[in-house]
Amino acid sequence: MKRVGLVGWRGMVGSVLMQRMLEERDFELIEPVFFTTSNVGGQGPAIGKDAPALKDAYDINELKGLHVILTCQGSDYTNEVFPKLREAGWDGYWIDAASALRMDDDSVIVLDPVNRKVVDQALESGVKNYVGGNCTVSLMLMGLGGLFEAGLIEWMSAMTYQAASGAGAQNMRELLGQMGYIHDAVAEDLANPAAAILDIDRKVALAQRSDDMPAQNFGVPLAGSLIPWIDSALPNGQSREEWKAQAETNKVLGRFKNPIHVDGICVRVGAMRCHSQALTIKLNKDVPMADIEQLISQHNPWVKLIPNQRDITMKELTPTAVTGTLNVPVGRLRKLNMGSHYLGAFTVGDQLLWGAAEPLRRMLRILLE
Ligand code: HSE
Repeated sequence: MKRVGLVGWRGMVGSVLMQRMLEERDFELIEPVFFTTSNVGGQGPAIGKDAPALKDAYDINELKGLHVILTCQGSDYTNEVFPKLREAGWDGYWIDAASALRMDDDSVIVLDPVNRKVVDQALESGVKNYVGGNCTVSLMLMGLGGLFEAGLIEWMSAMTYQAASGAGAQNMRELLGQMGYIHDAVAEDLANPAAAILDIDRKVALAQRSDDMPAQNFGVPLAGSLIPWIDSALPNGQSREEWKAQAETNKVLGRFKNPIHVDGICVRVGAMRCHSQALTIKLNKDVPMADIEQLISQHNPWVKLIPNQRDITMKELTPTAVTGTLNVPVGRLRKLNMGSHYLGAFTVGDQLLWGAAEPLRRMLRILLE
């Protein structure tokens, strides 16, 4: 049995990973060793079998004894530990949720329902570093993989509606705190059917703009508002999140020549853990809608075509419908006014599942095949 080290299993992505590994009985196939940055000697998570006491996640000698290390600890940890481990001669497989190594030449971005061939070729050629992709990119590719695979996409614009979870667990709490703060400010008026809506609205705006509005993590109100900037600024005017769309899409697909152009505006909205995206796609030929629908829906078992009808769209193409599931619905599919080569689409996916934990545990399974 392969000895697999798990680092960062207690955080938000790590907890989702643990849950999925239990559901899929992954632990039955490995000898798990749990690591910690704060509680050496403590007890690991309940996984239905014995595991040693928690080991020090910075102990290179301990880490060196593992076949595989799967980390959700974040980029600072990766930057600190990974180079030392490789310098110490460790030749095992490093599976990482963080972005630190993502664009390195000797790393592959894992999303096997979309790029199993790229992963297999990398394994054959001895690549040892497998990194989870940016959540938005992974979710877009899970939804639209069929069109990419058929080589039909000339370019794509992705306008995103990204959930609080992408910013972290504290941000999810803060979003709820903001909602509560706003509600408290107008609770009495809401209870009074005679209260004027414009008075209520004015009080909401005052609450949102108040110094007491909880906003330490987002910096500004997200509840009842949105934030049209995610991650740091780049010199060309893109945010780093927007830059990742093209860079990572092409890297996932193993397209190093003739990259497909992908660009758009990334926006944080008050959803909890599902990222949504409105896509404008330029097809490189006029493909009938029936073929497009077939290519999309048959690409992988998780993608789900939502007919372009109001009722089913409102029920099934939303963060509320998708949260906590592996489903990736794609809907609002239609040719746009710009012409028969232009396709509109909307997709939703759970940012912590396909957007983070799931591709990692599937990569581990591939190593165990
Ligand atoms: N960068 C993403 C976001 C999450 O802020 O929503 C991680 O992929």
